Amino acid sequence: MNDVDEVKSRLDIVDVISGYVPLKQTGKSFKGLSPFKTEKTPSFIVSPDKNIWHDFSSGKGGDVISFVMEMEALSFPEALEMLAKRAGVKLTPRSGSNQTNASHKTKLYDACQSAMAYFHLSLSKNEKAKEYFIKTRGLSSATIKNYKLGYSPDSWESLTNYLTKKGFKVEDLIAAGLCVEGKQGKGAYDLFRARVMFPVFDAQARVVGFSARILGNEKTAKYINTPQTPIYNKSEAIYGLAQAKEAIRQADLAVVVEGNMDVVALSNAGFGNVVASSGTALTQLQLKQLARLTGNIAFCFDSDEAGIAATLRAIDIAATMDVKIDIISLKGAKDPDELLKKGKSEWQKAVEGAKYAPDYLVEIAKSRYGTTTAPGKKQFIKFITPMLLSLHDDIENQHYTKVVAQLLDTTEDSISKLVLAKTQTATSAYSQPNPELQPDSDSQADPSKSPSEKRKLTRQEKLEQILLELCLAFPENISSLDDLDLDQSSELHRRIFKVIKKSPKAKFATILKALPKEENYVKILSLRGEQNYADLTAHDIRLEAFTQVARIQEINRQNAKHQLARQLSEAEASGDTKKTKQLLRDYQALLNED
Ligand code: CTP
Ligand code: MN
Repeated sequence: MNDVDEVKSRLDIVDVISGYVPLKQTGKSFKGLSPFKTEKTPSFIVSPDKNIWHDFSSGKGGDVISFVMEMEALSFPEALEMLAKRAGVKLTPRSGSNQTNASHKTKLYDACQSAMAYFHLSLSKNEKAKEYFIKTRGLSSATIKNYKLGYSPDSWESLTNYLTKKGFKVEDLIAAGLCVEGKQGKGAYDLFRARVMFPVFDAQARVVGFSARILGNEKTAKYINTPQTPIYNKSEAIYGLAQAKEAIRQADLAVVVEGNMDVVALSNAGFGNVVASSGTALTQLQLKQLARLTGNIAFCFDSDEAGIAATLRAIDIAATMDVKIDIISLKGAKDPDELLKKGKSEWQKAVEGAKYAPDYLVEIAKSRYGTTTAPGKKQFIKFITPMLLSLHDDIENQHYTKVVAQLLDTTEDSISKLVLAKTQTATSAYSQPNPELQPDSDSQADPSKSPSEKRKLTRQEKLEQILLELCLAFPENISSLDDLDLDQSSELHRRIFKVIKKSPKAKFATILKALPKEENYVKILSLRGEQNYADLTAHDIRLEAFTQVARIQEINRQNAKHQLARQLSEAEASGDTKKTKQLLRDYQALLNED
C-alpha cells in the first residue's frame, strides 16, 4: 500500500471531519451544515462506505485529504503530512537528501517554537512591553495570546543562552535566523533585542519566523524580520493566516492589509478575516493560499503613494486568477489601525464601501490623467487596457468598454479595437494566463477542485453530470445510455460513460477499478445521485435518465446543424457545387428530424 492509501485506510473519515463539522448519522451516511456556505438545512454529507465527503451547497467534495486541504488551506503534501502524523504513519521520504533535509528543518521548527514560547513568557515579565501592547496599542490579553505576541529582552545573548541550554546547537539557531554569527571568532548573538515580537506561522500553524518592532519611535529600523531560511520563505508566508482561516471562510472574504499591527488591531476589534502582506509586494504564492479559502479578496493597503502602487501591483498579479478583487479605501487614516481609533464602525463602513477592482482602476485613471486632453486620453487608455484584457466575462467586458468609451467621449468600437490590437502584442501581466492556473478541461468538471481552479460548467456538462449521477447510483438505468452519442462529451465524461456502458450489470467497485484516476469524481457523482433522487420511485428515476439523454441528444443535434451550416457556407463560397448539394441534402435531412 502506498502512503496515501495507508493514511486514508488508518483514519476514520467521519472521525476526522467531526473535528471540524458536527455530524449526525442518517442511514448509511452522516450529515452536517456546510462549512463552506451559511445554511440552515444540512447539505454536507460524509459517506464512510465510500470514504468520501460531498458538500451539496458549494459543490465541493473529495476524500479525507482534500477535506483537510480545504479546511486548513494546505497543499496536498502538507495535508498528507498532517494526517500522517495523526494516523501514526511514517511517510517514506522521497530521497535520502530529503530525509536529512526534513530532520534539519524539524530542528529549525523546534527552535522557532521554543523561541516563541520564550518571547511570550518574557512579555509577561516586562512591564514596558506589556504597557506597549495593552496601553499604547489597546490590545486585550486574549489577542496577545491568540497571536502569541512576545518581547525579546534587551540583551545580546539571553535567547541564545536559553536555547543552547535546552540543547539546541548554535549553528541551527543561526540557520533559523534567531542568532547572528559574531565577527572575528566572537560567539553568536541574538538578532532580536528589546523589541516586541510578532511570530509568523505557516499554514500548518508552525512558527517559521518573527517580525520585531521597536517600542518607541527611535531612529533605528522600526521593524526587523527573520531573513530567508529553509523554513521561512518571505514570498510564501502570510502574517495572520493561521488565526484568520476560519473567519475568512465564514465571511467568504479575505482582507489583505500591509501591517502586522493592522491585522492584530482588527482582530482585537472583532474582525478576524484579515491577513498582512507585511509591507512587501503581494506574491502569487500568497494569493493562491488565500484563494483556497475564498473567491473574494479585498486589498486594504496604506493610503500613501506606496500603498497605491502596492494595490496596482496586487491587482495585476490577481488578474490571472479566478478571484474577485475589491479595494477598500481608507478615508482620513493612514492605515486600518489608525482608522479603528475612530471607532469600529468606521472599518465596517470602509469594507462596505469597497470598490470592485475595475471600478477602482477607472477612478485612478481619471484622477491621474483626466478625460479631456488628447495626451491624457492616450495615457488613460494605456493604463486601463490591461484591465479590459483581463475581463473574460462578456458582460463585464462590454460594461467597462462602455464606461471607458463614455468617459473619453469616443465609441465603444474604437476602444475595442485598441484593446484588440494590444492582445496581439500584449506584454502586460494581465494578458498572460498562468498555465498553472489553467488546468486541462478534464479536471475542471471535477467538484473536488477549489474555486480558483474551477470554471463554470456548460449546459451539456451539467446534463451529463445528472445522467452520470442517475446511472451510478441506480445502475438499472444504464440501458438508457444506449442512444447516447458521446462524440461531443468532454474527455472526462466520455471515459466514464464508456466504462459504464460496457458493463451494464457491473458493480460499482468494478466501475471504480476501471477508472482509477477518476475515482473520487465517480464516487461523488454516485453519492450525489443517491442523495438527490432518494425520494423518487424507480419509474421516475428511469424517466429522469431518459429525459437527460433526450436533452443531450438535442444539444448534439443543434451542434451538428451549426457545423453543417458552416460547412455549407464555406462550400458555397468556394464554388464547390457538388459538395454544396450534398451538404444541403444532409442539412435538409437534419431539419426533417426536428
Ligand atoms: N515593515 C518592515 N520593515 C520596515 C517597515 C515595515 O518589515 N522597516 C513591514 C512590517 O511587517 C510592517 C509593515 O511593513 O508591519 C507595514 O509597515 P508600516 O506601515 O510602516 O508599519 P505599521 O504596520 O503601521 O506599524 P506601526 O503601526 O506599528 O507603526
Ligand atoms: Mn500602523
